[in-house]
Amino acid sequence: MEQLHPDVKEVLLSEEDIRGIVKRMGEQISADYAGRNPLIVAVLRGAVVFTADLMRAISCPLSVDFMAVSSYGEGAKSSGVVRIVKDLDTKIEGRDVLIVEDILDSGLTLSYLIRMLQNRNPASVEVAAFLVKDVPGNRPAIDPRYVGTHVPDEFIVGYGLDFAERYRNLPYIGVLKPEVYEK
Ligand code: PRP
Repeated sequence: MEQLHPDVKEVLLSEEDIRGIVKRMGEQISADYAGRNPLIVAVLRGAVVFTADLMRAISCPLSVDFMAVSSYGEGAKSSGVVRIVKDLDTKIEGRDVLIVEDILDSGLTLSYLIRMLQNRNPASVEVAAFLVKDVPGNRPAIDPRYVGTHVPDEFIVGYGLDFAERYRNLPYIGVLKPEVYEK
């Protein structure tokens, strides 16, 4: 039995749920990329935990690299313009790029990143998103090739996801108690 963090209202995805999702995604990706050598691009910081699990669930040869982006503030976030804080160290021309994200909300971060990486002439660019947030009346700007599962529009933390940089180390996905973020 997992010990629930006192700031967490409920567990949305247990460690076992997560293992099942990651295994399924890994099998799907391994089959699709068989005989190729994809470059896994993890978007810091939230995707680190999922990436570490997902890459071990993929059986084909792969490389991994990291990018860090930040939006130019709230107003700019809706325009989808992001600033590259850390670029890739790997040349991606001719490579099969698989961007790994922890959560897709508006999809603006990813749609910007995809456009940017496409300009470098990779062989392909696909997205694996562990979570897609379901916001009523709001369709994400992109449609990822691989999706772990959908989550409701709640304040979720754990498995890489933070609130004010906390809770990324929780091994499950939980819903934060409102009194924690309304403080
Ligand atoms: C989160 C997540 C995505 C982005 C999704 O990152 O990891 O990068 O927001 O939002 P969007 O679909 O509306 O663009 P965040 O900015 O919280 O940074 P972090 O990964 O360092 O926590």
